[in-house]
Amino acid sequence: METGGEWRGWREAAQDALYGPVGFYRTAPEGPAGHFRTSVHASPLFAGAVARLLCRVDEALGRPDPLDFVDMAAGRGELAAGVLAALPAEVAARTRAYAVEVAARPEELDRRVRWLAEPPDGVTGLLFANEWLDNVPVEVAEVDAAGVARRVLVRGDGAERLGEPVAGAEAEWLARWWPLTGEEGLRAEIGLPRDEAWASAVAALDGGGGGLAVAVDYAHTAAARPPFGTLTGFREGRETEPVPDGSCDITAHVALDACATARTARCTPECAPSDALLRPQREVLRALGVTGARPPLALASTDPAAYVRALAGASGAAELTARGGLGDFWWLLQPVGPVDAEGLLVDVADDEEQ
Ligand SMILES: C[S@@+](CC[C@H](N)C(=O)[O-])C[C@H]1O[C@@H](n2cnc3c(N)ncnc32)[C@H](O)[C@@H]1O
Repeated sequence: METGGEWRGWREAAQDALYGPVGFYRTAPEGPAGHFRTSVHASPLFAGAVARLLCRVDEALGRPDPLDFVDMAAGRGELAAGVLAALPAEVAARTRAYAVEVAARPEELDRRVRWLAEPPDGVTGLLFANEWLDNVPVEVAEVDAAGVARRVLVRGDGAERLGEPVAGAEAEWLARWWPLTGEEGLRAEIGLPRDEAWASAVAALDGGGGGLAVAVDYAHTAAARPPFGTLTGFREGRETEPVPDGSCDITAHVALDACATARTARCTPECAPSDALLRPQREVLRALGVTGARPPLALASTDPAAYVRALAGASGAAELTARGGLGDFWWLLQPVGPVDAEGLLVDVADDEEQ
């Protein structure tokens, strides 16, 4: 007799396990920070860099009032609060900050942050999604002994078996973005729901004055897909088997190149698609003024407190830009309207704002 419940595709199983009534993200009072460390938790320099990016978007849009900042999939709203705290007073006074999250608003959050379950309409400014898309559940496909790509089915205890052949829009997505050659055991995560989620989040900027949408995530592009996929679990800071029972996070790296194209494909002539950029976090953060330079030793004797502060800053910057760590994350910068993404990443020395 089988134990462990019904067999379902990974998308439905992970959707329930993460976002169902007793799902991991709905019930964990400790929030995401209790289970893993995102760039937001690693150092306040991250919120500082995002605030600097918001200032550059503000300039590109001609200093609108209000200026919007949307922290998409906000966790406990730490980034929205950090960005407000890091903005120059004049910009902060014009900024409407939103946290969009399925979980409940934390009591202690800065009252200026508006808490929503869906992105607001008509955004003018910056929509920023740090580690959201990797948590949008997807189907998993695996090649069987006959060379056919089949949907992977999973039970509540994490046991897997192969289901029906992948067909329709999912098969088309695989063929275009992640072709599986006929070798038995090769796996892929079918990113279609992420493409759709991203395109609709970016569309929040269409009805407003435009700006920039940014997704930051573990990612891969067509040039280097992982042959066996990346589906994994996280519990209390450790990587674990992905088991869809609500006890752990379930995540898979994101095909960000597909997400970028999904937005462009959805664009009507009115929303004139502009060029998206895909850059590693270490490059983007350097362009936004995050450097790992250590303070001069002499400062330790002349101003010990400043030396300790500068040292903490340098180690935070090193963590955010580290190879093999957070520095390997990818940033997708998707402009909407009169914004040139490349121009936003000018050298920090040319930036007079902060
Ligand atoms: C890995 S956490 C990242 C939290 C935060 N952005 C950070 O970087 O620390 C992912 C968050 O996305 C939220 N989330 C997932 N799908 C969402 C959706 N459609 N709308 C709002 N929040 C969502 C989850 O509840 C979870 O808090």
